[in-house]
Amino acid sequence: MIRSVITGTGSALPVRRVSNAELAKTVDTTDEWIVERTGIRFRHLAGEGETTASLATDAARCAIAAAGIEASDIDLIVLATATPDQTFPASATIVQAKLGILDCVAFDVGAVCSGFLYAVQVADAMLRAGAHSRALVIGAETFSRILDWEDRATCVLFGDGAGAIVMEARSDAGERGVLAVKLHADGRYNELLYVDGGPSTTGTVGKLRMKGREVFRHAVNNLSAVMTESLTLAGLDAAQVDWVVPHQANARILDATARKLGLDPTKVVVTVDQHANTSAASVPLALDHAVRDGRIRPGHLVVLEAMGGGFTWGAAVVRF
Ligand code: COA
Repeated sequence: MIRSVITGTGSALPVRRVSNAELAKTVDTTDEWIVERTGIRFRHLAGEGETTASLATDAARCAIAAAGIEASDIDLIVLATATPDQTFPASATIVQAKLGILDCVAFDVGAVCSGFLYAVQVADAMLRAGAHSRALVIGAETFSRILDWEDRATCVLFGDGAGAIVMEARSDAGERGVLAVKLHADGRYNELLYVDGGPSTTGTVGKLRMKGREVFRHAVNNLSAVMTESLTLAGLDAAQVDWVVPHQANARILDATARKLGLDPTKVVVTVDQHANTSAASVPLALDHAVRDGRIRPGHLVVLEAMGGGFTWGAAVVRF
């Protein structure tokens, strides 16, 4: 049986790191309000020359090095983003060119904050089908460029960044690999979290709009349910989980979700304080941090989860 195994992780952040206090110089907000409601203390914001594809490429290079392979070994790139460099071509093809990969399959996936989970499912299916052997799966965003900096209820919540993993098709995976993925979408909730523009409606990119309180309510229920579903699919339960790597939207959502599942909060990887919400980048960014600081180790059972605009949401169970 072929299984896809995560053999390397990487991440990249823009150079500029902005504290709540610095933000409060131009936005009508305070460090206290942001920390109390969200747990966010810092975010990185892209500067000149930093784009979704450039951050994605830097993260990809780290993941390729960690996997101990060459860029030319990659035959599939799936990039999750809602903030591509251009409407088309896919940012995945920009990454491909920057990495010097002459031929592979490369495309973007759009599921906003759940995009990385969707990308993992797509890459896993393509690898297990035998059509590809090594995939780069990337989540990368520059949400700072679609924020309304006049809207204090949203602009303080997001940051920019990228995370990447190398997934390899292995027939000798043993216990390792992607054990289960469960995804959902419910398009009835479009107006709770969306961008008020697009190529086919306004001919503009638009700005992010969110009804935060209502999103919060759905998030805790959907995320705890889908984690349970993915564990059941894998024939496992929450007590066996070593680490949860959640979408980093809000510390209160992370706490409430862990409580609902009866999970030890010390098993939850938290980076929202340092990175804020980086949409599709947030899960692979947090994953890379926890791998590099030695928390996630070979053999560990890890659950990845995310929810975002659409709504879309999902969870993956992975043995490292
Ligand atoms: N600084 C200071 N005050 C702010 C503020 C800011 N940045 N943003 C909003 N406020 C004010 C509001 O104007 C409001 O004031 P009022 O009561 O005088 O009208 C008050 O704070 C409460 O606003 P509200 O939006 O009801 O706050 P909340 O407790 O629901 O917290 C969120 C707001 C956004 C932090 C919270 O709803 C949330 O985290 N939601 C989930 C969002 C999310 O994670 N989305 C991404 C999923 S992918």
